[in-house]
Amino acid sequence: MLTDRRILLVVSGSIAAYKVLDLARLLRKASATVHAVLTAGGARFVTREALAGITGQRVHDDLWAAEAEIGHIRLARLPDLVVVAPASADLLAKMAHGLADDLASTILLATRAPVLVAPAMNPAMWEHPATRANMAALVARGVRVVGPGLGAMAEPESGPGRLAEPPEILAAVEAALAPPGESPHAPGATLSPAGRPLAGRHALVTSGPTHEPIDPVRYIANRSSGKQGHAIAGALAALGARVTLVSGPVAVPDPPGVTVVRVETAREMLAACEAALPADIAVMAAAVADWRVAREAAQKLKKQPGAAAPSLEMALNPDILATLSRHAQRPGLVVGFAAETERVVQHATEKRLRKGCDWIVANDVSGGVMGGERNAVHIVTAEGVEDWPELPKAAVAERLALRIAQTLA
Ligand code: CTP
Repeated sequence: MLTDRRILLVVSGSIAAYKVLDLARLLRKASATVHAVLTAGGARFVTREALAGITGQRVHDDLWAAEAEIGHIRLARLPDLVVVAPASADLLAKMAHGLADDLASTILLATRAPVLVAPAMNPAMWEHPATRANMAALVARGVRVVGPGLGAMAEPESGPGRLAEPPEILAAVEAALAPPGESPHAPGATLSPAGRPLAGRHALVTSGPTHEPIDPVRYIANRSSGKQGHAIAGALAALGARVTLVSGPVAVPDPPGVTVVRVETAREMLAACEAALPADIAVMAAAVADWRVAREAAQKLKKQPGAAAPSLEMALNPDILATLSRHAQRPGLVVGFAAETERVVQHATEKRLRKGCDWIVANDVSGGVMGGERNAVHIVTAEGVEDWPELPKAAVAERLALRIAQTLA
């Protein structure tokens, strides 16, 4: 219950604003007092009369209204929690940069109350580096976030950007207002329980290359940077999963909130993965070397004057993805990657069946994907193929984590 709790509900412009009437109704039903502030964009989708009717309070929308006077300061001091729902890309950008050119943004700059935002926008806008940076800045300042979810949007497009459902936002409000010690999350935590759909799940992720030694100073490797796998581990952790990241040698930093197990060779990677079981989710993003040198030299190989170059005899490495897919403790959802340079989807479809995993995330590595910042992937499942647009690797990771959460829900 939210008895005696004062919520300031800021409604900005989004097609999803109609849902805010239901949210206001739920907040009132939970005995909260709700004051609403409408931005000019918000007023295009929901009327002040409808909001006033449900909240039982006058709706505020004008920074310069005669009766407002120092109204924005009063409104900023009044609430126990400010809830921005829907939070448009524009309003989030204003919040991140401290702009104050209308009533809503001025209150958000002036308030000392905790703030919860429920973003809603087109997936391309949500995934844009500018919005990513704005969200990172807001989260670093302790702003709480609920959603957005995945799903069909107003446009013929799907992806993350759908406003969280009103009961989910209500749960996030209750979590934000829970007395210290009762809240499952530390102050400034980014997600409400409803926004942590993978809470209680264990995810195993592999990332980076493997190094296969030739002798004590030389090895065989590949160009994998670990950026994509590490981003996936971080994105799963952000949705509440306990994550074990088994990583080959990489230069990228450890993602926050993740247990990292460092390995060098494919055989060590397999052993670390098996030791981490049981898991609910396995995402095998590592570029595991398919072969190793059959006999690693105990001493550095020396060139002999006049002698021919040595030839290396290779041995097959274990296939970690295929092993886990057929394991007695097989994780419920096994996701593999396919790095292809031609007929990407066809090869990935065959690979999914051959390896026995549930999904293959297929990418074309003929360009600068390995070590690069962006990735265009196809998700191959038993149901068919989803073609995702080219995105920053962090956005691919977030979308994949949401897709996994949606599937396990
Ligand atoms: N993989 C693995 N163990 C291996 C090789 C690959 O777990 N020894 C996993 C990778 O982590 C990835 C998937 O298998 O999830 C696909 O790897 P990829 O190298 O693209 O395919 P290959 O199995 O090597 O097939 P191909 O020779 O067709 O490239």
